[in-house]
Amino acid sequence: MSFKIESKLPQSGLSIFARMTAAAIQHEAINLAQGFPNFSPPVELFQYLQEAVFNGFNQYAAMPGLPALRNEISKRIESDYLYHANPESEITITAGATQAIYTIISAYIHSGDKAILFEPAYDSYGPAVKVNGGIPIYLRLKLPDFKIPWEELESILNSEKIKIIVINNPHNPAGRILNADDLERMERITKEKDILLIWDEVYDLLVFDGIQHNSALQNKSLMDHSCVVFSMGKTLHNTGWKIGYSIAKPEITNEIRKLHQFTVFSVNTPAQYAIAKFMENHPEFFKSLPQFYQHKRDFFLTQMKDTAFDFLPCEGSYFALATYAKKSTKSDIDFAMELVEKNRVAVIPISAFYHDGYDPLMLRFCFAKTEDTISEAARRLAH
Ligand SMILES: Cc1ncc(COP(=O)(O)O)c(C=O)c1O
Repeated sequence: MSFKIESKLPQSGLSIFARMTAAAIQHEAINLAQGFPNFSPPVELFQYLQEAVFNGFNQYAAMPGLPALRNEISKRIESDYLYHANPESEITITAGATQAIYTIISAYIHSGDKAILFEPAYDSYGPAVKVNGGIPIYLRLKLPDFKIPWEELESILNSEKIKIIVINNPHNPAGRILNADDLERMERITKEKDILLIWDEVYDLLVFDGIQHNSALQNKSLMDHSCVVFSMGKTLHNTGWKIGYSIAKPEITNEIRKLHQFTVFSVNTPAQYAIAKFMENHPEFFKSLPQFYQHKRDFFLTQMKDTAFDFLPCEGSYFALATYAKKSTKSDIDFAMELVEKNRVAVIPISAFYHDGYDPLMLRFCFAKTEDTISEAARRLAH
């Protein structure tokens, strides 16, 4: 057969995430590579899910999402960020944050348009730009603190027409957060330039040490040309439910929904119902999340003290980065492979988050795991 396929993503192969998971299974390793909890979501969610299916919430939801869920989200956004998101015209429920980001990029990027992506970057941004005919411009966050390279950014904005900038805050994999000055500066340099800012804030409730998350939603002027994306999976320990949402002014939301209706149309109804009920009846759960994950981070770092890894500060998200110079001079991929084979612990090499394979010799550990799992991983990695 000579069926010719002209790939739109010729460079995309099996991701390092899939490779590490396969290696973890093969070597019966503890998997700290996968970015999801290995503990249960709150049991009340299951009861609400059951209630949903038995009470007839089994057909298509409204295209932008179940009204009850959009109302609950609006309440939480008002309370957390003092932003009034109109449930009718500004909130759209999506199949996870990934779909939200893909849909927004598809709605705004025309062939040849340029999008700025900061690296290390969540792996879906680049392909979403490219498949729509856009051109990603990759800027490296400045090590060791993963700061935005402001001079470089400003000089590009002054010399090129940029359509979109994607900002991830709190940051995966760096575990760093932006401060209020960063947001103000972003506002100053992008306003009146017709640039859509996509804020990936899926870890907004996972911020530690009493630090407040600075959301784009708190800056009125930024919201004139921003879309902010969240993920229920990251907050309810249920990444497999794939429910996320976007918030943007009505004119921007309108464009997103034009695409949303023809790609996903509407998102899993019973899951939306269950989450709405949970949000309504258990607001304390969300308030306790920073403490819950801060405890996990601290437990993880204490357990890892007897290893040869040097951990970088982790202010938010459920990832911690470590350098391993004391242990090896190998590339991050080779060293991660060695760890999974010899120590039977899987982690992610950071070069996977750079389009050109740049290797700052760091590994990403996910600490959204039970204490038993974390302790056993630390024991296996101890020198
Ligand atoms: C930075 C970032 N954005 C988006 C997502 C995707 O979220 P969802 O599972 O809701 O699609 C993830 C998941 O790992 C992430 O780390």
